[in-house]
Formats: sequence, structure tokens, C-alpha cells
Amino acid sequence: MNILDELRQRFAVVLKEVAPGGEKYVELVLPSQDARFGDYQANVAMPLGKQLGRPPREIAIELIARLVQTDLQTICEPLTEQAIAGPGFINLKLRNAWLAEQLQHALSDPRLGVAPASPAKTYIVDYSAPNVAKPMHVGHIRSTVIGNALYRILKFLGHRVIGDNHIGDWGTQFGMIIYGFKHFRDEAAYVRQPVAELARLYRLVSRLVDYRATQTESPKLEARLHAARQAAETARAQTPAEPAAAKKAAKEQQRLETRIKEAQGELDSARAKIAAVDQDPALANLVSAHPEIAAEVLAETARLHAGDAENLRLWREFMPYCLEDIERIYRRLGVEFDETLGESFYHDRLAPTVNDLQARGLARESEGALCVFLPGQSTPMIVRKQDGAFLYATTDLATIAYRKERWNPDAILYVVDHRQGLHFEQLFAAARAWGHQNVELVHVSFGTVLGDDGRPFKTRAGDTVGLEGLLDEAVRRALAVVAANDRSEAPPTGAESGGRDSHSTAETVGIAALKYADLAQNRTSDYVFSYDKMLAMNGNTATYMQYAYARVRSIFAKGEVDVDALLAKNPTITVDEPAERALGLEILRFSEALQLTVADYRPNQLTTYLFELANRFSTFFEECPVLKAPTPALRTSRLCLCELTARTLRQGLELLGIDVLERM
Ligand code: ARG
Repeated sequence: MNILDELRQRFAVVLKEVAPGGEKYVELVLPSQDARFGDYQANVAMPLGKQLGRPPREIAIELIARLVQTDLQTICEPLTEQAIAGPGFINLKLRNAWLAEQLQHALSDPRLGVAPASPAKTYIVDYSAPNVAKPMHVGHIRSTVIGNALYRILKFLGHRVIGDNHIGDWGTQFGMIIYGFKHFRDEAAYVRQPVAELARLYRLVSRLVDYRATQTESPKLEARLHAARQAAETARAQTPAEPAAAKKAAKEQQRLETRIKEAQGELDSARAKIAAVDQDPALANLVSAHPEIAAEVLAETARLHAGDAENLRLWREFMPYCLEDIERIYRRLGVEFDETLGESFYHDRLAPTVNDLQARGLARESEGALCVFLPGQSTPMIVRKQDGAFLYATTDLATIAYRKERWNPDAILYVVDHRQGLHFEQLFAAARAWGHQNVELVHVSFGTVLGDDGRPFKTRAGDTVGLEGLLDEAVRRALAVVAANDRSEAPPTGAESGGRDSHSTAETVGIAALKYADLAQNRTSDYVFSYDKMLAMNGNTATYMQYAYARVRSIFAKGEVDVDALLAKNPTITVDEPAERALGLEILRFSEALQLTVADYRPNQLTTYLFELANRFSTFFEECPVLKAPTPALRTSRLCLCELTARTLRQGLELLGIDVLERM
């Protein structure tokens, strides 16, 4: 049961009666921002007044006259003109008895009263999708965690959901590893620890390739810095006297200064990269021994794509190691996929895709490349390069066709970094032009994880942060939090607080903290990564939520209450105290929170809800004694509210991929 839907259904009927097409205003029946104005509020009279050319208040009165004829009266307190506020807002207050009844129903329902979606749709969630053979880094956390939460939530809502990990398993990184394997491998190390050796080869080759690229790039960076300096100088020389113009000039001056700083920074880091190699005799030797390495790497990749037996054999040998490497991280994160159809899977479909696009006149040659030109798009989407190679976009087009054929989805969600915005815009436009109109294509984009300095999160040495190290560090710090908690809560038993149990608790707490910190952000914003903040015992963190859950559970332990026995007696719930009522209402809004979450695919809607629920529980627990309630009936009712809170927290956290602990 979804309260908002229930109210809207009743409103839709009378809105239609009052004005043709009036039912569209049901969207304006919303939860109240302020409890003083009731639980829900209908702001429908104002737009209707405009449409009908009548005073809104008069319309509100008419709506109420009609609403009292419906069964809205069973849900809400009797509606009178008193319910009209301001120019014509209608305030709705739910009846306590109705709330209690719904709570009792939720208690007997494993779905906590959340009705399955009707109609159920088919969703494909394309998420995580790292380029394998490179170690996963901090950038992958967002897609993995947000995508997995959306996957779980849509599934819980009753949809058919396919989680597909569209890994990059066919790109230049394999050219690098193959080249590295052929020239630089340490056989003994490879036998001992293949993944580590492949990662080393990848890093080594990309460093050598990067060195050459940076060398070519350096003069351009110098020129850019020079140009920026000159522009600043010219601007300085002609400062206008007139105040408005002078202000503008000062602003421009500032902009140029920033540009100089940026250009200087880029040049410095390029020079540092070059110097680091030059100063390392072994690396410097490799650089001079492999002058054509960039071209060679591309050639190895091209040979792999062309079906070269040796390269294909190597690729097949490496892949299981690469997959095992990412699997290990997924296991720790509690993430599973239905499919892992990487880019290589689509290789044989690329030529037919391109031929079809060409045959339909959608793709044509431009400067040797084959391009799809799209209305409203300034740059065309290239689907085949001059040298005949296919691209990321080509694979994505072939992937859409395959998914349509195999699953006929209603929607495909791409949980990918916002920097790929243009790619998806073009891809979706091309897919529609290609005939895939009846599938909703959504780029569920997200911002960047930042360091304290407000720049993309990097290690001190300026490298991207490995995901595994990040998990380890979160767990290490969680151990300290768990140990401190043990010391303050448990009587001294002489047992080591850093024992085995603390370690598994710390793993649960640490991983949860990391995931929740990401999910609790509005996904489109950047956020600053902070271990301290994510592991705080107070505030909207996983640690606080896990603690809140354990606290509810501890009530049952303390009172030695057998929940099943309690529920077997079909207990009656009452919500007459304000804090009981506020908690009960929040519990019943779980369904609304999930609806809101999937409306634009924002898991932070669910974290916000759960945080509010935990806070309302806190208030309830302060104001309403549970185990020492004044009467046995009230004790039972309050225990039921505790049970519902615990279940809703657990279910909500589970949908976010967060594990709870019975004790903390
Ligand atoms: N492997 C890509 C990357 O790391 C992400 C793939 C996202 N999914 C897709 N269908 N394009 O940038």
C-alpha cells in the first residue's frame, strides 16, 4: 500500500469531475513539508482556478464537497472547510485508526506492505563495467554501488531486472599486456601470481607509452602556458578607467590567472612524469629500446581483433585471471551480476551492425571514417575509423540490438560517469534513428569522487586510488570504531577485542560505510571522500544506521521477547502518542520512498528516508517507554512498532546492498 497513491486515486476521481483533464493535477497531492499542515497537502485548487477562471478557494470548497462523498473519509480525518489553508491548499490528516490498521497489515506482510509493481517491466541495468586487466580504482565504486542498489530496488518492486556487467575486455589495455608479456614478462612471477604480474606489465607498458605521449605533448603545453601569460600581460596593459569596465577587466584578469595556473600545473606534472622515467636507468633503457611502443601496442590490439592465433590464445589465457581479480572485489562488495557480456562478446556483431547502418543510409563516409550524422547533434558519431577499427560506440549500438533481441527490455539504465554524457546522448539518438524507439534509454550519470583538496581523489603520488586498497583502509578504520564501541559497551571479559569476530564485524561496518557514503549523495554531484565522515556514529552514515538497527534489536534481547510468539497472537497496534504516530506514518511511507527512488534513479532518496525513519525511532524511544510501557497492550503495540522499524531498516538497507548487524 502506498499512501500517496491511495490519496491520489481518490483525488483523480473528483478532479476529473470538476474540470475536464483535471486528473493531471494529482501530481500536486504531496506529502506536507510541515506537519502543522497535516500529513499530506493538495495544491490542486490554484492551477484549477486558473484553468477554470474561478477563485481557488471556491474550487477547494467544491473539491471537499465531492471528496466527502468518497471513501477518502475512511483514510483521512473528516474534511471540512477548516482544512483549507491560504489561497486554497487542502490539508489532509490521516486517521490514527487507519494508520494502525495499515501498520498491522504491514506486520503480516513479508513485503512490508509494498505492493508489487503493476505492470511489471523489464529493466537492464548496465553497471560497474570496468576495463579489466587494469586494477579497479576509486572511480568504479560509484557505478558498482549505485547500479547494484537500483538493481535490487527495481527487483524488489517486482520488475524483471537483468544486471549486465558490460566489461571492457577488448580494448587497448590488452594490446599493452600482450606487448608487455611478449617483451618484459617475469616468468617466475607470472607462474606465482599471474594477476599481479599482468598488472605490473600493464603499468609498465602504459608508463612507457605515456612517456612518449607526454613528450609529444610537452611543447604544446609550453605553448599554451606562454599564450596564457601573454594574454594576461596584454590585458594588464590596458586596464580601463571606467569603473564597470575596470571591474569586468579585473574579472578577466582573474580568469587568465587561473588559466596560467592550470597550464603551469599540467606542464609541471608532464615534466615530472618525464623526469621520473629519465632518472630511473632501467626505465630509461626500456624507453630507448622500445621507441615505437605506442604503435606496437596498437598493432597488438589490432592483431587480436583480427583473430591472430597467438594473441587470441594469450587473451584467453589472461581473461580468467582478470575476471577473478574483479570477482574478488565484487564478493567483498556483495555484488552479483546476471550477465557479464563484455565488449568482446559483441565483436562478431560489429561489422553487421555497421553494414546495416550503412544500408539504411544512417551511416556515411566522412574523411575516410564511417559516421552517423544525427539531427540536433553537432558532431557525428563515428562507428568505424579510417583504419577499419570499430569503436566503443559501435559496440554499444550492437549491444542495444542484442539486448532488444534477447530480452526485449522496456528500459536500459546505463550507470556511467557523467563524463560520458555526450557518448550516451549520441548513442541514444543513433539507436532511435536505427529503429529502437520503444525502449527507454537512460544515462544514470554520476559525479566525481574528490579528495580533500576538491580535486579528483588521488594518492599522494598523484596516482588513481586502487579500489581494493580503499576497501582495506575502510575496514582497518572500522576495526578501530568497532573496538572502541566494544570497550565502551561490553563489560571487560579479558577477551581480545581485535579477535576474529571483530574482524568480520569491521568488514561489514567498513564496506557498508563506503557504500552508504556514496549512495547517500545526490548522484549527480561530486563528493569529497572522507573515512572519518563515513564512519561517524552520528549523522546520515551506514554506521549510524547499523547502530540504529542493532539498538532496536537489543530491545527484544533485553526484554527477552520472542517476536514470533508475540506476532502469533495477532497483536493490536495503536498510534495515539504523537511520537508513535510519527514513527508509524514514516514506516508506512517506505513504498513512497522506493517510488521516489526509482522515479529518477536516485538511491539517496532511500537513504534520506531511512535516516528519517531512524530519527523518528529515536524520538519515539525517548518519549515512549517500550518494555516499561504503562499497560501490557501498549507494550505489545510498541514492540510491534519496534519490530516494523527494524524490518523496514533491514529491508531498506538490504536494497542498498548494506548488511546489518544484530549486535554492534
Ligand atoms: N568500460 C567503460 C568504461 O570504463 C564503461 C562501460 C559502460 N557501459 C556501456 N554500455 N558503455 O568507461
